[in-house]
Formats: sequence, structure tokens, C-alpha cells
Amino acid sequence: MKSSTDSHQHGGAPRALFARYGLPEREVLDLSVNLNPFGVPELIRQAWPDWIDQLAPYPSVEGLGVKAFYQQSFQLPNDCVLPGNGSLELMYFVQRVRGYRRVGVVLPSFHDYMRSVTAADVDCVPLLRDCKQSLDTFINSVSLRQALESLDAIYIGSPNNPDGNVASAEDLLRLAAAFPQVDFLVDHAFIQFIQNAGHYSLLSSERLRDNIIVFHSLTKFYALAGVRLGALVSSADTIARLSVKREPWAVNAVAESCAALLPRCTEYVQHTQRWLSVAGAALDAELTQIAGLFVYPSQTNYRLICLRQPDYYDAFLQGLLQQGIHPRCCRNFVGLPAGHIRVCVGLEAENQRLVAALRHVMKGLP
Ligand SMILES: Cc1ncc(COP(=O)(O)O)c(C=O)c1O
Repeated sequence: MKSSTDSHQHGGAPRALFARYGLPEREVLDLSVNLNPFGVPELIRQAWPDWIDQLAPYPSVEGLGVKAFYQQSFQLPNDCVLPGNGSLELMYFVQRVRGYRRVGVVLPSFHDYMRSVTAADVDCVPLLRDCKQSLDTFINSVSLRQALESLDAIYIGSPNNPDGNVASAEDLLRLAAAFPQVDFLVDHAFIQFIQNAGHYSLLSSERLRDNIIVFHSLTKFYALAGVRLGALVSSADTIARLSVKREPWAVNAVAESCAALLPRCTEYVQHTQRWLSVAGAALDAELTQIAGLFVYPSQTNYRLICLRQPDYYDAFLQGLLQQGIHPRCCRNFVGLPAGHIRVCVGLEAENQRLVAALRHVMKGLP
């Protein structure tokens, strides 16, 4: 399966949607990117001016500040972490250097899984899942086991983007043990938003395996997307094999300093977790009452919403834009049926604005 750059689309570009519908641009509440709404942590803001002096010298070759973050926050040994310029960059790196021939991608999911595979001239095998089925059910299915027989690696988003479903760590570990010849490329970009993360997270020293490569991002939870910060986590053996193929200085000095400071942002972490459990539940209570919409259950900071009558999708999107709401249009999620949007959970006033807009637009649809 080929994936072209034409369909290479991320959130955060309301202009493209205004242009598509020939609507005049206006100020919007952009809910298409799933970042922590509290923005850059205060400790990073305070330290920022001091980092000007770090611009002249080279940073550490291997991103020591990022390793320090994983050591302090997740007790992961330094030799089990490979820092990167965002987790996305590491996805492309792994595909380039790992020598895969056939890689499965559980779909619908984040577009760059497929793109990283095809960009490396590797065969991409779509593995379609109905988002109404849990990831655990999919992972334990006979059809997936059959597919794994002929794959070198498989991408699994957990939590998955766009629906937010998350696989249990135990199921992932069991599957990886049953297929030692397959690399399990598990994307944990949103794992820190999940309550009871211990049940789902592979970011612990007892859960490291040679054939599980975890992609972790520091850009979503800490609202640092512009800095580009993330890492791969795996066994020391797998990280050593990957490290010899790695370019030096993949993480810049400022990003390294940010990462080193993040373990001290404990208040920010607690505040975020408290906000999401309250705001997420309140938003779900409102959304599930709007006739004509289906909301996928999710513990993450985003919700996938299905318009039950997808024929009115264009009118639905235009209506939301006119109400000043920019959702993530989900047209380019391969394997997702027509009629979906994804929205980020925001602060209370933002969620109220979203709910009011959805109510208004739905009332106007036939
Ligand atoms: C599911 C998922 N994984 C990974 C990424 C990339 O994150 P990063 O900013 O760490 O490169 C994104 C970005 O949108 C994403 O949605």
C-alpha cells in the first residue's frame, strides 16, 4: 500500500478547511491538535531566558537531558532510551535502519506510521480494525495472529489516534512473546494522559523487551510541540543496535534542557491529570446527549465523534467553522468510515463553546 504526501495531513491548519469550503477566514478555537491546554509548564517558562547561553556550544551527542527525564520520571536505565527530535523523527529512523521488508499498521491510525514505512520503501500491510472494537479484542484476534506470521514489524498506536482506545500492557507483552521475530512498534505518544497508566504503559524497566520498541513523545502532554522532543524505549540490546546507526546531536541543546527540567514539573502533571478526569467526563456527558452524534469512549485528551448521517459531513464541518470551531477533519484516516471528526478536550469554557457549536450545527441539519 502506498501513501502519498498529498494525503499527508495533520491538525492545526484551519486555513486549509476554510479554503476547501470557500469560506472567509475567521478566528477559530482550534481543537484539531491534541496538546495540553495549560501550555508550556511554568518551570520551562522561567528557565527559558537562561538558555540563550546554550546556543553556541554543541549539545551532548546522545541527548543526555532526555535520558535524564526517563531515568527520573520512569526509572528507565539510560541505555534503554534513544532520544529524538520528537517521536515522529524516530519512527522514520527505525524504518530506515531496521531492515524490515513487510510492516503491518493497525488502522485507522496516525498517518505517519504508514508514511514512515512507505518512505523507507518497505511494504506496508494495512490491518483494519473497527474503532468500535477495543484494541485488546483486536490484538487477541485470530486474524491478527495470522497476519503476524508474515510480518517483520507492526505499528500499534496505544492510545490510538484518532479514537483513543488503549491496549493493556499485559496483552501487548503476551503477543510480543508469542511472536519474537516481529518488532512491536508501540506508540505511547498520549500514554501520560491515561489514568491507571500502570495497566497500559510499557514504560517500566520490567516491561522492556528486545522486540518491543516504544515511541514516546514529550510534545503532547507538556505542550512542547515546537521544541520537538521524544524518545524510543526498548531493551538495552535493541537500543545499542539502533544507537550505532544514529546521527549525533539529534536533540538540540534547548530541547535537552527542557527535558531535564520536566521531572520537576510535578504540579503541572497532577493539575493536568485532575483537569482531564473532570473535564473529559463533563464533556462526554454533554456530547453523548447530542442527537445524531456518536462519541467513542476515550480516556485520552481527545474524542473521536461520528456524524450518524455522513452525507451531511460537509455541511457539518462548514457549520462548525462558521461557529468558530476547527475540529480535526478525519477524511485522511485510512480505514475510518466517512463522517468523523476528532476534537481535543480543552478548558471548561472551550468545551462549552464546542458543545454549543455542535448543538447549533446539529439542529440545522436535516
Ligand atoms: C499518535 C501520534 N504519535 C506521534 C506523534 C508525533 O509526536 P511528536 O511531536 O513527538 O513527533 C503524533 C503527532 O501528532 C501523534 O498524533
